[in-house]
Amino acid sequence: MPNSSSLAIPFAGRSTADDVLSGVDLAGKTILITGCNSGIGFETMRALQAHGAHVIALARSEQSARDAIARAGGSGTPVACDLGDLASVDAAIGKIHGLGRQLDAVIANAGVMGASQAEQLYGVEKQFWVNHVAHFRLVNGLLDLVPDRTGRIVVVSSLASKLSAPKEGIAFGDLDGRKNYRATRFYAQSKLANALFARELSQRLAERGIAVNSLHPGSILGTGFMRNFAAPIRLLLRLARPLGKTLPQGAASCGRARWAAYAIPAGINLPARSRPLRPKSHKALPVGSAELL
Ligand SMILES: NC(=O)c1ccc[n+]([C@@H]2O[C@H](COP(=O)([O-])OP(=O)(O)OC[C@H]3O[C@@H](n4cnc5c(N)ncnc54)[C@H](OP(=O)(O)O)[C@@H]3O)[C@@H](O)[C@H]2O)c1
Repeated sequence: MPNSSSLAIPFAGRSTADDVLSGVDLAGKTILITGCNSGIGFETMRALQAHGAHVIALARSEQSARDAIARAGGSGTPVACDLGDLASVDAAIGKIHGLGRQLDAVIANAGVMGASQAEQLYGVEKQFWVNHVAHFRLVNGLLDLVPDRTGRIVVVSSLASKLSAPKEGIAFGDLDGRKNYRATRFYAQSKLANALFARELSQRLAERGIAVNSLHPGSILGTGFMRNFAAPIRLLLRLARPLGKTLPQGAASCGRARWAAYAIPAGINLPARSRPLRPKSHKALPVGSAELL
């Protein structure tokens, strides 16, 4: 098994999920993914299943997850998990414990990009809640099911965390977005929280040998992700679609680092530390930001 120093990753930005999983047998592996019913999450689930994994497929409703599994045509267990509803997240944690399976990998993929007006859930701006806080709760609630030494956790972040997050880092004084809301800035802040969460968790799980990584999947303009954008912007993005990645490419790669996040469950022996995006804004974070999250 390769270690980090010997690991050469023979994939480029246009490699697909099936490319990076080629020759990888995931039979016997159980992998959990959130947002399984659409976009990158669906394609990731499909590719993992096609290579033998059993997927614990989370979507807003059990029916939506069940439909997605049927469309993908592989082996999966549907679980309802509405990330906007704490009771639903906790119920999902309970149901997953009841399945009696270990989780070889957990992929926190679901995400929402906000509307022009700030919405709050539990007193927190909605994107920050859904993209970060709910995943924080879910992942932490499942850590006892992730095996020592071989377990993998992947948090889908975004390059937006570099380009558009507040320069000073997470705006803890305005988490509800009532003072200074801009949808893109708050989306980017939630993605910065994803990357910081992955980095902090990787340090806390180092002794257990569990690798935690965050990633930017690339720009995939054909997903449901832009549904809250104004119509002219959606049209522009549709026209620009050929410039971005396809869904199979988005499900494969880890942005500029270009290594195959979703092949990790195959047993590539990466070190148990995070490789989050390292934008300038991350360096400028106030000490302790990640711990505060
Ligand atoms: N597309 C890109 O270019 C791009 C770039 C950088 C990062 N990303 C990241 O990639 C991830 C996947 O995005 P995508 O492009 O595949 O978008 P997508 O097609 O809209 O998929 C988003 C998924 O998240 C789910 N979701 C949203 N709110 C939820 C909630 N409250 N509870 C449960 N599930 C919820 C959606 O379910 P519903 O269908 O039920 O809403 C959907 O399955 C996101 O984390 C995003 O930040 C995407």
